[in-house]
Amino acid sequence: MAKFEGKVALVTGAASGVGRATARQMVAEGADVYGIDINGEGLDKVAQELGQAFKAAVCDISDRESAQAAVSECVDIFGKLDIVANVAGVVRSHHATDVDEATWRLIMGVNLDGMFWITQAAIPHLLETSGNIVNVASNAGFMGQAYTVPYCAAKGAVINMTRALAMEYIKTDLRVNAIAPGGMKTGMTENYHVPEGIDYSLMQPYTGFRGMAEPETAANAICWMASDEASRCTGSILSVDGGLTAA
Ligand SMILES: NC(=O)c1ccc[n+]([C@@H]2O[C@H](COP(=O)([O-])OP(=O)(O)OC[C@H]3O[C@@H](n4cnc5c(N)ncnc54)[C@H](O)[C@@H]3O)[C@@H](O)[C@H]2O)c1
Repeated sequence: MAKFEGKVALVTGAASGVGRATARQMVAEGADVYGIDINGEGLDKVAQELGQAFKAAVCDISDRESAQAAVSECVDIFGKLDIVANVAGVVRSHHATDVDEATWRLIMGVNLDGMFWITQAAIPHLLETSGNIVNVASNAGFMGQAYTVPYCAAKGAVINMTRALAMEYIKTDLRVNAIAPGGMKTGMTENYHVPEGIDYSLMQPYTGFRGMAEPETAANAICWMASDEASRCTGSILSVDGGLTAA
């Protein structure tokens, strides 16, 4: 039987990169997937590719009411919810002293607040199905990376939010885990621009030795973590970073 036969998964950031790769893999393994993104055009392309098993909603997850409405709509359409893959994220690079309030709010709003709003709305449904949540953190949640202070702060918070949620629901069947990828070839890195006047030697520790990965490497880890094969995992943070954080 396919890994996700009969399962319903909500995937944020499903229009691109890791989220799209996760949606593809889950549908291939039998799931119905509800994809959320702010990029409607990207979602339409994924919907054309994946057909009936994929429904989508344009939603800014950093807005709590929109996130709640999207979770409700997913359950209205598919009748239940088994898996949440919190993948959507944004990054910006600045000198710490140049981070303005809008940038700080954007990074926190999408990477942290949005993940929590989706999770909070999903928990009652996941408790009904003995479901699970997989959050996408980053090597940046473990390492102090120069020129990405808000992103590191948000991803570090994602890691401990994952553990805190796992503990709060430890006496239920709900599992809450995270994966922490390193650099991958996605829209995020294609559009990554460093500011003028940076010290490149400070970036050396998070460049690593094994180059950039394909988004499917993270999707594989998400799908494993979301499957029954990972039934013993809760509060786990799985590094998928080519050894970046091993040093
Ligand atoms: N690419 C990397 O090198 C890398 C490394 C470590 C971790 N990550 C993490 O992986 C995850 C996926 O990123 P990716 O690399 O696939 O990037 P990506 O840019 O290809 O995909 C991110 C998706 O999130 C969506 N999104 C942004 N803001 C949103 C919002 N407010 N509401 C809903 N959707 C929104 C974007 O439209 C996009 O489709 C992110 O959490 C990112 O932080 C990426």
